[in-house]
Amino acid sequence: MKKFPKLSGKAMLAPMAGVTDVAFRALAKRYGAALTYTEFVSSAAIVRGSEKTLGTVKRNPSERPCAVQLFGNNKEEIVAAARALEMDFDIIDINCGCPVHKVIKTGAGSALLSNPRLIGELVEELISAVNKPVTVKIRAGIDEKRINAVEVANIAEEAGAAAITVHGRTQKQGYSGKADWDIIKEVKESVSIPVIGNGDITSPEIFKARLEESGVDYIMMGRVAMKNPFIFRQINDYLETGFYTEKPPLEQFSEYLEIAEKCEIPFIQIKNHAMWLTKGIKGGRKLRERVSTTKNLAELEKIIGVYKLTTIKGTHISSFERPP
Ligand SMILES: Cc1cc2nc3c(=O)[nH]c(=O)nc-3n(C[C@H](O)[C@H](O)[C@H](O)COP(=O)(O)O)c2cc1C
Repeated sequence: MKKFPKLSGKAMLAPMAGVTDVAFRALAKRYGAALTYTEFVSSAAIVRGSEKTLGTVKRNPSERPCAVQLFGNNKEEIVAAARALEMDFDIIDINCGCPVHKVIKTGAGSALLSNPRLIGELVEELISAVNKPVTVKIRAGIDEKRINAVEVANIAEEAGAAAITVHGRTQKQGYSGKADWDIIKEVKESVSIPVIGNGDITSPEIFKARLEESGVDYIMMGRVAMKNPFIFRQINDYLETGFYTEKPPLEQFSEYLEIAEKCEIPFIQIKNHAMWLTKGIKGGRKLRERVSTTKNLAELEKIIGVYKLTTIKGTHISSFERPP
């Protein structure tokens, strides 16, 4: 049974389907993410040898350590997929939290929370089949009447899981309402393996408060990092010195672009990151309208270049609104 590695920091990048491509993960790592996760990967597709799915499990050499997250409903398939991928990753994580109907109707993702014994069996089988730490990512429970994160965490620990991540929402909540950090704290108090808390971190200040209140070992962040991957540096600085600086979103995008080009990330994905990274910036709505119509990298770079010029020169939004 392999132990969870000792990490260099407290803040991790959460797995996000369609978001955490290899270039974005490398950027998060550059900015100080202690651990990165691939998006969830279908174990059935890995076993089938799907080229598209294999494309999502690329790893950048800078990403050390990096976890691969698998989902599925079939033990043999999950074990076979883990075996196929274990050489390339440091941690095998099992998705027991996805609330999407297409996934749960097959018995995978958060549907597994209604059968904690199966999670235990899965962890046991994985541990005997692979030579890497096995971790589990869960939600608080299925709904408010069936909150069972503590029970699931205990079963996973007994089965040999190296760590457990808890997103403090139920399956029924999806992404609505608030993450319940009390349940995360209860899990932390009931197991001895590392616990990773997750849900609704939006700033270094909130990160620090949740870390202290809940006592978790690490915290992973998803949506905030889509808009500001530099948050990892901000958190590391804030925890160490009490201060942090900002990095303009378009500078972050330029750095993403530089890595994305090397990693041959498809244009549509680069464009998605441009859209997410420009949320909330001055004149961002207009900029995003323009970005959304671009058809290739040259057009995208031109639009962003014009935006930068007009804002830097102080001629700012009104002149940006005129066609370039
Ligand atoms: C676009 C998107 C895709 C996601 N994909 C995954 C996934 O592949 N695997 C997973 O375990 N969770 C996934 N999640 C959930 C996140 O990992 C995280 O648990 C959730 O967003 C709560 O954290 P946050 O408040 O920091 O965003 C996804 C979330 C988003 C917004």
